[in-house]
Amino acid sequence: MSARPAATRRTVLRGAALTPVVGLGLTACEGGDDGSAPLAGPVELGPESEVAAGDAKLYRDHNVVVSRGEDGSFKAYNTVCTHAGCPINKLDGTRLVCPCHGSEFDATTGKVLREPAVAPLKPLAVEVRNGTLVAKPQA
Ligand code: FES
Repeated sequence: MSARPAATRRTVLRGAALTPVVGLGLTACEGGDDGSAPLAGPVELGPESEVAAGDAKLYRDHNVVVSRGEDGSFKAYNTVCTHAGCPINKLDGTRLVCPCHGSEFDATTGKVLREPAVAPLKPLAVEVRNGTLVAKPQA
């Protein structure tokens, strides 16, 4: 026979205390501490050499995409989707694709390429400090 003891009220409560509670507070579509919140201040992204001319790079940890024009200038956009607030997690060339409902954005202009989103991505300020890309909210 099984020697496994039956769950007591105490063991059930202990297990419940260790179980993460999901569904309370903010969701991914509202922005919050899950990584979808917009930038609150300057963030260092990485070496400027990571973004080639005519290309773009998505920094998922910061919800920022940086593109580099053929003239070497940089542009940055917040990659929290303007449709319902999901963090965009896919960059195909310079096309950003939202995982939630399929909206697509141009990483070089922030413009909507495919609905349901209708508003462009929010532009960010970006600069190079000692060879490192730094993005921050626009003033
Ligand atoms: S939240 Fe991005 S398409 Fe709906």
